[in-house]
Amino acid sequence: MLVMTANVAVLAQGLTLRQDNIDEVLSELTLKEKAELVVGAGYKSMLAGMTGAKVAVPGAAGMTRAIPRLGIPAIVLSDGPAGVRIEPSRKGSTDSFYCTGFPIGSLLSSTWNTEIVERVGAAIGNEALEYGVDVLLAPGMNIHRNPLCGRNFEYYSEDPLLSGKIAASYIRGVQSQGVGTSVKHFAANNQETNRFWNDSRVSEEVLREIYLRNFEIAVREAGPWTVMASYNRLNGIHTQEDKWLLTDVLRNEWNYEGLVMTDWTGNRNTAAQIQAGCDLMEPGKRSQIRELVRKVKKGELAEADLDICVRRVLELVVKTPVFKGYERSLKPDLAAHAVVAREAAEEGIVLLKNDQSALPLAQGAVAALFGVGSYQLLAGGTGSGHVHRPYVMQLDDALAREGITVFAPLAALYRQHIMAHPPKKSFLSGMLGSPAIPEMPVSYATLESAATGADMAVITLSRQAGEGGDRHLDDDFLLSDPEIRLLTDACEVFHSLGKKVIVVLNVGGVVETASWKQLPDAIVLGWQPGQEGGSALARILSGSVCPSGKLPVTFPIDYFDLPSSANFPFDYSGRNSMSAGSEKENDVKNVGYTVYEEGFDVGYRYFSQPGAPAVSYPFGFGLSYTSFEVSEPVFSGDTVSISVKNVGAVAGKEVVMILDPVLRAFGKTRLLQPGETETLILTLAELDTTHFVIEQRPGI
Ligand code: GLC
Repeated sequence: MLVMTANVAVLAQGLTLRQDNIDEVLSELTLKEKAELVVGAGYKSMLAGMTGAKVAVPGAAGMTRAIPRLGIPAIVLSDGPAGVRIEPSRKGSTDSFYCTGFPIGSLLSSTWNTEIVERVGAAIGNEALEYGVDVLLAPGMNIHRNPLCGRNFEYYSEDPLLSGKIAASYIRGVQSQGVGTSVKHFAANNQETNRFWNDSRVSEEVLREIYLRNFEIAVREAGPWTVMASYNRLNGIHTQEDKWLLTDVLRNEWNYEGLVMTDWTGNRNTAAQIQAGCDLMEPGKRSQIRELVRKVKKGELAEADLDICVRRVLELVVKTPVFKGYERSLKPDLAAHAVVAREAAEEGIVLLKNDQSALPLAQGAVAALFGVGSYQLLAGGTGSGHVHRPYVMQLDDALAREGITVFAPLAALYRQHIMAHPPKKSFLSGMLGSPAIPEMPVSYATLESAATGADMAVITLSRQAGEGGDRHLDDDFLLSDPEIRLLTDACEVFHSLGKKVIVVLNVGGVVETASWKQLPDAIVLGWQPGQEGGSALARILSGSVCPSGKLPVTFPIDYFDLPSSANFPFDYSGRNSMSAGSEKENDVKNVGYTVYEEGFDVGYRYFSQPGAPAVSYPFGFGLSYTSFEVSEPVFSGDTVSISVKNVGAVAGKEVVMILDPVLRAFGKTRLLQPGETETLILTLAELDTTHFVIEQRPGI
């Protein structure tokens, strides 16, 4: 046994971290080492693509710190919800490190299919494992309070049950591969304007029933290894130092035993974060280590409080592949995962309109493709939700594979336009994705020539958004004047020749539809469908796949019909101003706040009330190429059985929802052939006073 020397614990020879000796190792740590374990290793990993720094996984968002003398490795944390986000190339290597670009969260929830979402999670989790990532910083799952939130593409729904169940499936999938997840951003992070300081002011009843409920379902049913506390304040307190949220609710009420980390915040009140039960400060700055040591030495932070967080860091470390010495291959099966990405996209695409069976397109037809998105599909959003995909399958190429010929003269004009607008290559755009290319103006003559040479028109309208900014009303939620003109003229010209017009929405969030949806013959909501999005859309348009997606969010007629529109930070000019209720308090950095004055009136909870305005497309809406007969539900205790019969002419899947009056259960059939019936047995989420009882999965 070596003796203790001043300030440095020289360890009994051979003590090294194991799953069963965490307390022993904890007792050997010096105060400085404890502080190092709860503060991340900084931006070195995230910026390695630019700096060339030697790190375990270049491009991974963050790491923890190692304590080699005790056998404590550094673990790797990487984004994101639609796929692992790491550098696709490395200095000194001819290998590539692409990751599969899966569909965005809003499309995954549009599948209403927990089985396919679990498969997506497993594929992403496998890529994390094989590239050396220990915790995936996903799923993003904040409630769609308002369609202008810049990150709704990463999030699932306006409904907490659908959001929670989809998130739980995703988490189970990822963690089935032996890597962790991080449910984010906990909590009430429903806008991007002033995201670091905005104070979300929500009543506790509404918070529990809507904005925490989905996190509760995910935590209780799937046991995420970590939770990411959000940037914002909640009723005046930064969530990252909110003991009520992180300890009283998350741990004491929901029995959560995992780790809580911050979002990628700079310095805040590190001691207060520790005392609240926030265990890991990411990305981490050395000044936070010094602050913790100082505060403990001055008696302003109990070392016992620090030990609680250190123990949770060690409990996380011993679960990770790097601790277990997993030999990462750096060669995940991207081809197999691409199939999963395509199948998920096919299940989440929503058919909103199909008059006189304009769809599916006839084999051998010639399609005039309008819109930049027809040739340059937006596969996903920007920010930490971006993925370095190996490719994006484009709609024009994929349609050709489905036996639909693309009208070449028009395609040539668009390809020329796209070439004339190359994405601005920079490290930041590489890391966070690029904005959409501006639409190409289309002359009437071009329209007439296309309408003569083609059998129908397909117009793709695209929208891009990402973290750090909210969306705008003008030219974003609302169609732009050039888009309206294109749509109006195309319908006039093609309809005059008895030819159809189909609109494809390649968007990350809700757009206005009521003012123009009567113009085209069909409307397909493709969302941002991932790297295989072109294939998925082509297979839906050609009829190879029958659409089965349903809306996870309401499409209102008018933005201002939304109760939350009275308290969302934007102004008519489309600039993001301070939040609606904001005022410059004497606090630092122009603190703003948003009052969730609408309370429970979020989405269909409002629009389904008597006297509420009508909507353009309701929550749960989606058409099919076939039709189904659904039996009366038979209730027995907390289960309900429902039979679904395909009474149409083509194979398809159907979604069943129990709303009473809020969503209490849902399920999706397998692919039913014409005439085939399936009986679904669903478990109702129990109403327990105002609180759902969440099914507690054994062993979590
Ligand atoms: C970002 C995001 C978060 C992400 C993290 C690491 O700012 O808010 O979702 O996981 O930083 O990139």
